[in-house]
Amino acid sequence: MGTAGLLDGRVAWVTGAARGQGRAHAVALAAEGADVIVTDLCADIATVPYSLGTEAELAETVALVEARGRRCLSMVADVRDTAALDEVVATGLEAFGRIDICVANAGVTGYGRFHELDDTTWQDMIDVDLTGTFRTIRAVLPHMLERRFGRVIATASMAGRMGNPNLAHYVAAKWGVIGMIKTLAMEVANKGITANVIAPAAVDTPMLHNPAMYALFCPDLDAPTREDVAPRYRAMNRMGVPWMDPGEISRAVVFLAADDAGVSTGQVLEISLGSSAGTH
Ligand SMILES: NC(=O)c1ccc[n+]([C@@H]2O[C@H](COP(=O)([O-])OP(=O)(O)OC[C@H]3O[C@@H](n4cnc5c(N)ncnc54)[C@H](O)[C@@H]3O)[C@@H](O)[C@H]2O)c1
Repeated sequence: MGTAGLLDGRVAWVTGAARGQGRAHAVALAAEGADVIVTDLCADIATVPYSLGTEAELAETVALVEARGRRCLSMVADVRDTAALDEVVATGLEAFGRIDICVANAGVTGYGRFHELDDTTWQDMIDVDLTGTFRTIRAVLPHMLERRFGRVIATASMAGRMGNPNLAHYVAAKWGVIGMIKTLAMEVANKGITANVIAPAAVDTPMLHNPAMYALFCPDLDAPTREDVAPRYRAMNRMGVPWMDPGEISRAVVFLAADDAGVSTGQVLEISLGSSAGTH
């Protein structure tokens, strides 16, 4: 085996791990020595205007983790389903004996003017991005409390730090995640558990790169492409790049997951290409 990793002997659970940031986090955690439980819905949601991860993609994540020499347990689990999440924790504990790190990453987005968001679209967003994050962490927290160790990391967004036209439901959910995690951090601060939020700006994943998103950012073009949207994303930050590689976000996840990060809690780590530098 290679040199000592930051997370040798630790076990991590990553939701939304079939692709995108979740997959990158699973692989990065494994590269630092953690065994990983990876879960995903592996199905589409009618009110989400692009395809979600698949079972084949989740299997590819498993292969990538195992290629780092770590063990990987994968399960299809919807973060809206408490029983499924309890089953993940029970199965994970049976397989690995512990869960030290919880990366509540699963999320969806969608678009619509405030007055055009129907009840189902609003509710699905809150159910997945806010309540799903709550349910995920709640499922594993009793185990962490019992062992007096835990690293909870929730993915919000820069949309949880400011307003964002066409995204009222997403913005509400992501601001909610930040308030919820700060509260959790206060409750568990003297129990060996940290709880932090990662707030990325644009990341190069299928959530960003799909026809629905392209149409939103290029309403003036017929069939906009990745090249068409790039300058419009570039204009939203200060670094002159349109989006970040998911691995950039994984670096922050690994930092917050490490034993050494034990004094950082209740924080929001913005990885925003400088987009918030002039605001607060
Ligand atoms: N891509 C961006 O620009 C960006 C920016 C800021 C924050 N985020 C957030 O990052 C997180 C990861 O998104 P991504 O960019 O990797 O997008 P993605 O669409 O590539 O990945 C999201 C994964 O979550 C899964 N998922 C969706 N609903 C689920 C559910 N109910 N239960 C379990 N799994 C579910 C999907 O199947 C998919 O595999 C999300 O919380 C997202 O809101 C993304």
